[in-house]
Amino acid sequence: MKIDGTPYRSIWIDESDRWSVRIIDQTRLPWAIEIPRLTTPEQVAHAISAMLVRGAPLIGATAAYGVALAMRADPSDEALATVIPMLAATRPTAINLRWALLRMQRTLAAHPPAERADAAYAEAAAICDEDVATNRAIGEHGLALIRARAQAGHRVNILTHCNAGWIATVDWGTALAPIYMAHDAGIDVHVLVDETRPRNQGFSLTAWELGKHGVPHTVIVDNAGGHFMQRGAVDMVIVGTDRVTRAGDVANKIGTYLKALAARDNGVPFYVALPSSTIDWTITDGLGSIPIEERAPAEVTTITGRALDGAMMTVRIVPKDSPAANPAFDVTPARLVSGLITERGICAASAPALAAMFPDQALQTAA
Ligand code: MRU
Repeated sequence: MKIDGTPYRSIWIDESDRWSVRIIDQTRLPWAIEIPRLTTPEQVAHAISAMLVRGAPLIGATAAYGVALAMRADPSDEALATVIPMLAATRPTAINLRWALLRMQRTLAAHPPAERADAAYAEAAAICDEDVATNRAIGEHGLALIRARAQAGHRVNILTHCNAGWIATVDWGTALAPIYMAHDAGIDVHVLVDETRPRNQGFSLTAWELGKHGVPHTVIVDNAGGHFMQRGAVDMVIVGTDRVTRAGDVANKIGTYLKALAARDNGVPFYVALPSSTIDWTITDGLGSIPIEERAPAEVTTITGRALDGAMMTVRIVPKDSPAANPAFDVTPARLVSGLITERGICAASAPALAAMFPDQALQTAA
């Protein structure tokens, strides 16, 4: 996607040295575009845990390059056995992180140490390129849903939560890919953007992305979605996800479950867009089995923005002695999900539908 006319991916290899890794620091958006250079696996781990990069597919792609950086420095079996768990420990909920690391481990184990650095860079690049192709396919399938909803003169209003746009993936995004394609196809689409407290991925990332691409949108507070649904101002909800169980339960940014409840009560279709790398074929019950990341209470008790004089500022917004809890994700049960938009098409959020859509992957895990 483009920033002010220049095409970007969210991660790439530095053009001058051909080995270090460039990312867009998402903690600085929308106020500044800063492009740090990552040269060690420790820097990659910090970028993931401190959320300079975030979004399930991008976390996986970044971790893959973290392994490549480690193999460049030391391609031994010991180094490989150390870096994989170190990167896996950075964030617990997004299964794409483990998926990418397992893929790197399997690929590299088949190579002698002397070949591992080149093999690791090639595999990380393949993960990135596949992510772009996968998200484009998700976009095309989701576009059909939006097109079906668009009637002459009728604007299609889509509510989204958090950020599942191009900046959360290598390119295109998952939930936002169909929206970009609909906009580019001339469909009158408008996005209601949940602010997404506490880290505000909605108003700082989704609104920024949509604005840069010229997609009409309105930022709303997290609690307003039900109100807009009751008044017929939402035609569908599309969100991304960090982990989907084999039965279709969906973990996504905290607050997603409440949107699904409101959508069900108001007859609004609730879709989840995902690459198949987000499916955890080993678990069925999302509520009991998906680890939910607990982040620092300071993310709840403070907020960061730009003061009117232009300076970046973090201010406390909760009484000094009040404790805060900060679960980063919640689980939406499959029964509240109208459909899963995948790279192979749209299916019901159920074990038989997912197994029919991905028989190769479901069987592979069972074996
Ligand atoms: O904590 P974050 O910002 O990494 O959470 C991201 C989300 O919840 C996204 O919806 C999800 O990762 C899908 S990204 C395509």
